[in-house]
Amino acid sequence: MKHTDICDILKDTEKYIDTSVTVCGWVKTVRDSKCVGFIAVGDGTALGTLQVVIDKESFGDAEKAMKATVGSSVAVKGKLVRSEGSGQSVEIKPESFEILGLCPLDYPLQKKKHSLEFLRTIPHLRGRTNTFGAMFRMRSELAKAIHAFFGSRNFTYVHTPIITGSDCEGAGEIFRVTTHDFKTPYKTEEEYYKNDFFGQKAGLTVSGQLEGETLALAMGKIYTFGPTFRAENSNTARHAAEFWQIEPEVAFADLDDIIELATDMIKSITGHILDNCPDEIDFFERFFEKGLKAKLQHIVDSEFAVIEYTDAIKELEKATVDFQYPVSWGLDLQTEHERYLTDVVFKRPVFVINYPKEIKSFYMKQNPDGKTVAATDLLVPGVGEIIGASQREDNYDLLMEQIEKRGMKKEDYLQYLDLRKFGTTPHSGFGLGFERMLMYITGIGNIRDTIAFPRTTGSLV
Ligand code: 4AD
Ligand code: MG
Repeated sequence: MKHTDICDILKDTEKYIDTSVTVCGWVKTVRDSKCVGFIAVGDGTALGTLQVVIDKESFGDAEKAMKATVGSSVAVKGKLVRSEGSGQSVEIKPESFEILGLCPLDYPLQKKKHSLEFLRTIPHLRGRTNTFGAMFRMRSELAKAIHAFFGSRNFTYVHTPIITGSDCEGAGEIFRVTTHDFKTPYKTEEEYYKNDFFGQKAGLTVSGQLEGETLALAMGKIYTFGPTFRAENSNTARHAAEFWQIEPEVAFADLDDIIELATDMIKSITGHILDNCPDEIDFFERFFEKGLKAKLQHIVDSEFAVIEYTDAIKELEKATVDFQYPVSWGLDLQTEHERYLTDVVFKRPVFVINYPKEIKSFYMKQNPDGKTVAATDLLVPGVGEIIGASQREDNYDLLMEQIEKRGMKKEDYLQYLDLRKFGTTPHSGFGLGFERMLMYITGIGNIRDTIAFPRTTGSLV
């Protein structure tokens, strides 16, 4: 069906004015009066709609057109003319109006406003609302910005496996992958896995990092951009069981280099959103976060703060806030602490650096102090952690020591250890949570509203 995207018409109305256009979309609103009907059509390419003005006396198909209900899919051909009404600059004077799929009255999106909670129960339809249309266009644009950023810096985009035998983060949050039936004849765990599809224990990846490192030590600079999975039983507004991560990995780079890269990336992709999603930003500013546009500009213009973990603990100890989790050196920062640092102390993004080694993963580079590792989290106001990063341990013996100390199976990490044997080099990387970044730049408070089909504890709708 040949037709013009509504976004193209709205972007350059002068180009289309007084010409015949065909648009295809869904009816958003219908207003009917004695002589005229107004039908607003949206096609998902833009936040805006096009109003079709039905002159009941002169338009032959007026009666048929006015049968279109909210939610119906339609194809409209007509002349684009300047609008006399307020609220839109142009409208369509139809020559033909075809209802492709009539929408009955039990369509759940009849009202103009629905709660986000209600919309989560109809993930197959919520993309048709302004909020989710704006979110999914923004999500798409953000992905493009990320590829453009790394592409401009000679990074190779690599694809790491989704099914894996190793646990990158070591937090035991892996979804198992198996083809075994509910009932199996096996007596031991070992026998069970030996007879399974891969002949060993397998799961969905929590991070593409370990494989990413092998490719960085071949290609120099790589990034992944794919789904990662965590069976965290935490029912919070910022945890999903399936979320997308961007994981660059850079050879010949230390912690400072990776902080610089993360900063440049966040600024660059935020700038891209400011340039390419003005309508969506206005929309989120109006309905979800006052001052959003200024905040985004501030991200681009301001310097991100950096604080030592040890100093961050001192700040938290000074705070006159009753934290649920008591503060002392060695504490794994909880959301409440992260939010205090970002929202109260810094009021801008902050890198917390050099965490105690006990609370961080096995692969992080040990600092000379013997107590901390060269790791950082980027915390941002309103959300908390959006990036986890570190310099990787590139010394074979020190890495082996950590693997053994943590009771990990050496056999699962032989390839990873090989990298420290065959031409090892300092290297660093980070993981950006894509949905958390979307929460940050839209002001949407729940991760379930940043992805089309959210997967969270107890929910697979
Ligand atoms: O801090 P994390 O666990 O770091 C890693 O996985 C490293 N291997 C990354 C690397 O260095 N290549 O996770 C990275 C980011 C977090 O900062 C957060 O933004 C996001 O991934 N994240 C989640 N997002 C949504 N739901 C969850 N359950 C998440 N867990 C982590
Ligand atoms: Mg982390």
